[in-house]
Amino acid sequence: DSSTGRSGRVWADGCYDMVHFGHANSLRQAKLLGEYLIVGVHSDEEIHQHKGAPPVFNEDERYTMVRGIKWVDEVVEGAPYVTTIETLDKYNCDFCAHGNDITTTADGHDTYEAVKIAKRYKEVERTQGVSTTDLVGRMLLMTREHFRRGAKEYTVDQDANSSQLATDSKARSPWTGMSQFLPTTQRILQFSEGKAPSPDAKIVYVAGAFDVMHPGHLKFLEKASQLGDFLIVGLHTDPIVNMYKGSNYPIMNLHERVLSVLACKYVSEVVIGAPYAVSPELLDHFNISVVAHGKTPLCKDPETKKDPYEEPRKRGIFQELESGSDLTTDKVVFRIIARRQEY
Ligand code: CTP
Ligand code: C5P
Repeated sequence: DSSTGRSGRVWADGCYDMVHFGHANSLRQAKLLGEYLIVGVHSDEEIHQHKGAPPVFNEDERYTMVRGIKWVDEVVEGAPYVTTIETLDKYNCDFCAHGNDITTTADGHDTYEAVKIAKRYKEVERTQGVSTTDLVGRMLLMTREHFRRGAKEYTVDQDANSSQLATDSKARSPWTGMSQFLPTTQRILQFSEGKAPSPDAKIVYVAGAFDVMHPGHLKFLEKASQLGDFLIVGLHTDPIVNMYKGSNYPIMNLHERVLSVLACKYVSEVVIGAPYAVSPELLDHFNISVVAHGKTPLCKDPETKKDPYEEPRKRGIFQELESGSDLTTDKVVFRIIARRQEY
């Protein structure tokens, strides 16, 4: 709108707790409404005050995760829970974009009332089948057996489960089977860059589960992307993740994990259903120059019982990275269990 002197600066705000592809999809749509996207993320205190419970990820973690989304140009830390004209003006934004669901304050008011009245509000389509509440629910469900066994036993017995499940032909996560998300190629197209690497690009490959993306994953992906020009992330299938993680992992199914990883600004391409071991064929096919893995423990390839990185090590292209974070998906689950009364 030239009369106001603003040009396509879009504001979006929210809690962005356990950031998922639904959040990312709303920011993707918001970015399409303008040129520059500013995302206001609420502080822990504001969330506690209005929702009555603290978020699973603290504010610093949430700021980091939102900064990692490829459609986000800028993050405003500690944005107010109620979106006002003053906030839009302060950051020189034309309008605010939000999903087509009603968000209310602690006393029941629409948090977007003022910007709606001022006609500085645009709606984006909420993504069906995923929410922070749903993810918390999946995690609580997956550990329900462990609650029964007593308050002290919060550990998911991975070894026992994985060895059991490895020989079970039906080995797959029963909980992600409950995912309500309907993946389409259209959605994958919207999330992906669709760019091939340039012929002389240095291609980096990493593989993993990347189940419920957290700041540890993000830091790792940032460092991995710095090793070359084009980062390919191999995502293991649900049965493979189940085999080595055991229990009811993965929490998010392969299609959901694909979108989460594609939303990350460091990632160029994803292999949907990568083998556990990095084979000579895979290295040659993608013309990979570097293979990286973090400091988290490795399992043997379930088929060959060998180190999954044997081939890249032999070729001298394997690199271990220090993400600087000791966060894991297990730890996220434990946080939720420890605070389960609050959800
Ligand atoms: N959003 C979305 N699709 C989802 C979940 C959230 O489009 N499945 C959008 C919301 O509409 C909002 C933005 O993401 O515009 C930030 O949402 P947030 O404040 O974090 O809250 P919730 O809507 O509560 O997200 P969730 O239900 O996952 O907790
Ligand atoms: O555990 P997962 O398969 O999701 O991990 C994917 C990659 O991220 C692995 O290379 C792992 O070592 C790395 N990672 C990390 N720091 C963390 C968590 C994961 O470097 N805190």
